[in-house]
Amino acid sequence: MTSRLDGPLKVTGRARYGLDHNFPGMAYGYVVLSTIAHGEIEAMDVTATKSAPGVIGVYTPFDPLELRRPNSPLFGETWVPLQDREVTYYGQPIGFVVAATFEQARDAAMLIEVSYLPRPALTSLEDGLASAEDAPPAMDGAPPSLTVLAPGVESIEDALAASPVVVEATYTTATQNHAAMEPHSAVAVWDAGALTVYSGNQGANLQAAELAGALDIDVSTVHAVNPFVGGAFGGKGRTSAPAFLAAAAARALDRPIKAALTREQVFTATAGRAATVQTITIGADPNGTLIALRHDSVCSTPVDRSFVEPTSHGTSREWYTTQNLAISQKMVPLNIPPTTFMRAPGEAPGSFALESAIDELAVALHMDPIELRLRNNSTAPPGRDLQWSSKHLDECFQIGAARFGWAHRSPHGHTDGDWLVGLGAATAMFPALRFPATVGVTLLADDTAEVATSGADPGTGLLTVLSLVGAESLDISPDRITPRLGDSALPPGGLSGGSTATASAGTAIMIAATKVLDDLLAVASSPGAPFDGLETTYADGRVLAGGRSMTFGEVLRAVDRSSLSATGSSAPGEEMTKHSFSSFGAQFCEVRVHRWTREARVSRMLGVFDAGRIINDTMARSQISGGMIWGLSAALHEGMEIEQSGRLANGDFASYLLPVNADVPEIDVHFVQYPDTLHNALGARGIGEIGTVGVAAAIANAVHNATGIRVRHIPIMIEDLLD
Ligand code: MOS
Repeated sequence: MTSRLDGPLKVTGRARYGLDHNFPGMAYGYVVLSTIAHGEIEAMDVTATKSAPGVIGVYTPFDPLELRRPNSPLFGETWVPLQDREVTYYGQPIGFVVAATFEQARDAAMLIEVSYLPRPALTSLEDGLASAEDAPPAMDGAPPSLTVLAPGVESIEDALAASPVVVEATYTTATQNHAAMEPHSAVAVWDAGALTVYSGNQGANLQAAELAGALDIDVSTVHAVNPFVGGAFGGKGRTSAPAFLAAAAARALDRPIKAALTREQVFTATAGRAATVQTITIGADPNGTLIALRHDSVCSTPVDRSFVEPTSHGTSREWYTTQNLAISQKMVPLNIPPTTFMRAPGEAPGSFALESAIDELAVALHMDPIELRLRNNSTAPPGRDLQWSSKHLDECFQIGAARFGWAHRSPHGHTDGDWLVGLGAATAMFPALRFPATVGVTLLADDTAEVATSGADPGTGLLTVLSLVGAESLDISPDRITPRLGDSALPPGGLSGGSTATASAGTAIMIAATKVLDDLLAVASSPGAPFDGLETTYADGRVLAGGRSMTFGEVLRAVDRSSLSATGSSAPGEEMTKHSFSSFGAQFCEVRVHRWTREARVSRMLGVFDAGRIINDTMARSQISGGMIWGLSAALHEGMEIEQSGRLANGDFASYLLPVNADVPEIDVHFVQYPDTLHNALGARGIGEIGTVGVAAAIANAVHNATGIRVRHIPIMIEDLLD
């Protein structure tokens, strides 16, 4: 089994991330952040800063760097710092100090005196619920609310009123920060009017386009380089404030600039996960068949409404069969750090609510919660004709139940000494998507091949996937493939996000490989070539005809060519009109709550997933178990604590709780593999995000099984479990 190709470079410190680049004459930028949540900057006194040792440049809204808001096809308009005096959250970038060293820039930044005209700030989602606004349509145009009713039913209220068993509850989920290991940062270098930026992001060609838009220059003059990204999770989709500022300051000062957010600054000067408040009402038959499902979600959003989490309410749109369905989404603009995509952007909070509610229904029905889920298994999203292309969720639950010992679960948990032990389960789903991606495949005369795309590997394993799928498509061994990515000069790979990269790039590789091999055969049989006029075929890295064979390298050398290249592109197409596509999974957790201290520990976890074909088992497991750990984190640890002033009470690693090794049990991951060639030729669906989906609910459900206490918010705290 091939392991991660970039693993040795990373563990030996030889992988060069953005900040690891240094250039002669390089200066250091330090980002200055606001200390109020809402208002106008009245003045910034930079006198002391300007005369501080080593200071080269000081930029504020009163003396800004030249930047425009770029428009990205994927993200819309992106905010850029220093262009106005409005402050809309505590910790917003409002200044940039450049000095000869990092320490000098930081110390000088501390000397800036800012005066504000503060305005009242809304910093709590609960406080804003009364003024919630309708969310805009989703990116695919889906309206923020939808009702599907059975024939003859007048309203969802009627359907619920006619249901023999009804459960209703409200669930809340915390806002989170991605807290990737590599802080948002950049090194920017200009040379003869062209910009090179070294900055971790999720798609080099997208970053180049955003920077070009912000700097008002042609995209062909921007080179974005990011072969290694120290975690992204959606938080590096858009270009970061330090990258915009470093690029603009490097132009203004005509020298290379390095800028990085400090760990504390990452918590506010980037963007995180939306908080949600979700109310779910389910009506069912006594035998557990759903009659009606209502899911109303409210999420936090930035005051400029530039991002609205897309799918917390959408979980109920797709996960279960029901005759009557009503979903809605509203949003509350808050003066807190902005929101953006974060691993399973709506599915993570949405699944906490829906899968907790399903467990509550199972309790009300005295029914096994897995049996209840299977009884309502959806064959297509309700009200939509398009059936799932390939769905084996029932098998995931059956295998999982057997592996996890679910049959031994009692409805009221069991005890082990002073520990109250409970088991919980939940469904996981995440849409299977593809984004447009182009990959280049080049055959070389030395019998190796290059597979190249600008797309990013933010730890997902895409680099290794390029090698494996390239090798399979060219019918040679992976060690003869040189994979290349993370460079905007390569064929445009689009976004590593939405759990799409393997399906998108993989399909593009197959198309490019087919083309380049067709070209190879044409070259091999062309006049004067070794197989002149013969009917050629290709197998095992060799061209065959007339009882002879030559490697592709031998053919290229014989015709005096050093290489042969083709590109392939993949994008969603026809298939979207024929089926619905999703990955599926069954999550299982065992939780132990201490009888006296009320400490909750997750002692076992299992996830069984149906994600089509798995390209590399090791990396797939690693991707999924990382997601499951994030689910554990969301359930028991993680959440931004926002003071009324809008200041984060826990915006650092000392107080923002994350699970450490001692918190994480052995994680069992299993795949059922049914290649989904209705979705794409490779047969692989996404696994990047689904690992985290459902885990928080499975844990909350296990806590209920262990203690009888139903906690309807995450993170779950010790004080929630006091008797
Ligand atoms: Mo992911 S939240 O699509 O990077």
